[in-house]
Amino acid sequence: MFAARQTFGLFQKRAFSASASQASKVAVLGAAGGIGQPLSLLLKLNPRVSELALYDIRGGPGVAADLSHINTNSTVTGYEATPAGLKAALTGAEIVLIPAGVPRKPGMTRDDLFNTNASIVRDLAKAAAEASPDANILVISNPVNSTVPIVSEVFKAKGVYNPKRLFGVTTLDVVRASRFISQVKETDPANEAVPVVGGHSGVTIVPLLSQSNHPDIEGETRDALVNRIQFGGDEVVKAKDGAGSATLSMAMAGARFAESLLKAAQGEKGIVEPTFVESPLYKDQGVDFFASRVELGPNGVEKIHEVGKVSPYEEKLVEAALADLKKNIQKGRDFVAQNP
Ligand code: NAD
Ligand code: LMR
Repeated sequence: MFAARQTFGLFQKRAFSASASQASKVAVLGAAGGIGQPLSLLLKLNPRVSELALYDIRGGPGVAADLSHINTNSTVTGYEATPAGLKAALTGAEIVLIPAGVPRKPGMTRDDLFNTNASIVRDLAKAAAEASPDANILVISNPVNSTVPIVSEVFKAKGVYNPKRLFGVTTLDVVRASRFISQVKETDPANEAVPVVGGHSGVTIVPLLSQSNHPDIEGETRDALVNRIQFGGDEVVKAKDGAGSATLSMAMAGARFAESLLKAAQGEKGIVEPTFVESPLYKDQGVDFFASRVELGPNGVEKIHEVGKVSPYEEKLVEAALADLKKNIQKGRDFVAQNP
């Protein structure tokens, strides 16, 4: 038995409602952070999760002890901040969510986080490639456009890269898009779905209003709405005034994505989420990763949907996104090549 780990939970057995194929271990790396804590809370409330593994460089066991008192059936384990603790957290995980890393302060771009977060994500990816090479890896740490290619390069170097199991979490962009459009149209956001393609930063976030319920939104209203979706993160960074970026809405978005993957793994059909994956859509233009609507299945990525018909205005947005994405992706790859 791994001595450094602390296991909590009323029942140490599998959740009673989960069959063997449904027993799902989910690991959160960065679990004690602003996103990590509410994300772990939402996962603890999810009956599809049978085992929750929490790892952080500080505070993982404390968060686990707290969550373990919630009367749902899953076990919660907090792991010590050691290589052995990280390995134990990852071993057997079906899903690994990575919100580890520093958030923005006002005036910063997501790319300004690269110098700190690139090495954090690289090191966690190395551990995952060794301990949980078959897991679905969900990258939340920014800049997502670069951290996802970092994970892919690390997995390639270890000979275990499976592009169907690596996802940049862009769910918050579609969550925001449906909320913001509902505010413009005074509708229920539950009935709004706006596809958002590209990546996860500024102009790489491309909302396709022409494919929403409201293709009629035009002119200044359209420009303001698109800008708000592209720069929604900045709104939160500014309001938090130095205390970080979106955490609660991100936790909801991360939990939604994990839930979708679990549903797909457990046999539900037609589960589609937008996500930043290795994609054939713009490879001919040198852009190897792209977010679009992706159908999920038991093996991860089942089908990458085409962007579809877009307006001339949106075509220009996609063009601008591709130019930035190409640089962001290359930056991640170069980092691993130079700092293996
Ligand atoms: P935070 O500082 O509150 O929490 C980060 C946590 O990571 C901390 O608890 C820290 O101890 C931990 N950590 C740092 N290095 C680690 C390592 N090597 N191993 C394990 N844990 C480590 O930050 P936050 O607000 O939770 O944001 C985390 C990241 O998520 C940021 O990079 C932020 O930009 C990003 N983010 C992404 C999205 C998205 O849509 N993808 C949305 C919001 C935030
Ligand atoms: C977001 O979109 O809220 C996150 O990427 C965090 C940020 O830096 O804005």
